[in-house]
Amino acid sequence: MYEKIVKGPANYKHKLLLADPPYHDDLYLVSFPKSGVTWLSFLMANIHLQCSRLDATATFFNLESYIPDIHLTRSLKDSILTFPGFRIIKSHSEYNPFYRRIIYLMRDPKDVMVSYYYFMKKLGWFNGSISELIRSKSYGIDAWCRHTQSWLNKTHAFQQINVIKYEDMKREPRKVLDRVYSILGFKLPQIILDEAIDRSAFDEMKKNEEYCIKWKLSSPKGYSFMRKGITGDFKSELTEADVDYIQNKAKHLLEIFNYEDILA
Ligand code: A3P
Repeated sequence: MYEKIVKGPANYKHKLLLADPPYHDDLYLVSFPKSGVTWLSFLMANIHLQCSRLDATATFFNLESYIPDIHLTRSLKDSILTFPGFRIIKSHSEYNPFYRRIIYLMRDPKDVMVSYYYFMKKLGWFNGSISELIRSKSYGIDAWCRHTQSWLNKTHAFQQINVIKYEDMKREPRKVLDRVYSILGFKLPQIILDEAIDRSAFDEMKKNEEYCIKWKLSSPKGYSFMRKGITGDFKSELTEADVDYIQNKAKHLLEIFNYEDILA
């Protein structure tokens, strides 16, 4: 089935976000923007570096060589790490029939909207208010619903998709990583997971970001990307009307993923 789809009628949009050449065991880390995929990438890269017995830590400078971003480059070589033995690729693609193995990272869309607003504003890509961003068809809650729904509804039987949540990573990072790697067929020593969690802690990543900015290292970020890294930020950033708007638009998905928390 997979071969038939890859070789079948060209689906240009989906192929634009497919590694070249594609490998049947490529694992895609997929998320709507601002769901925490950079953190997940740091965690996984820090695990893979240890398991590959390399004396190195993931940084904003080198992350791309361990977990490449399909939006920056499609032309991918084999991984330079010996572990886990397949490539891990970051993507924000909506449903893509060419991805065979997927970890889908979710975050409460109310916090996503806040994070996205500050991100877009800093880059000068959006000039409106936070309420306007939430109501924007391209970036707002409609876009989030489209993305999430596309992966929920369209996935084929040959596609292996596992959902993890930012909030669980915050609460129990070790448990989430244990689950991710057992799905991938590995039982990793706790000491490796704990070391990766420490190396990828918010403050460590923030220090690294400041270092990269100070020395003008060619980080793909280069602005204050490490903002707050908390859950429930929406409570101090959104109005009741904004929260209601999100609740109404995404009611079904918020129920499924247990994101019904509202303003206190
Ligand atoms: P905030 O803007 O709410 O702080 P992405 O990588 O998908 O663009 O997501 C960015 C969000 O993840 C930002 O959220 C960022 O601060 C948060 N983040 C990055 N590293 C983190 C870490 N180590 N722990 C918790 N959150 C982190």
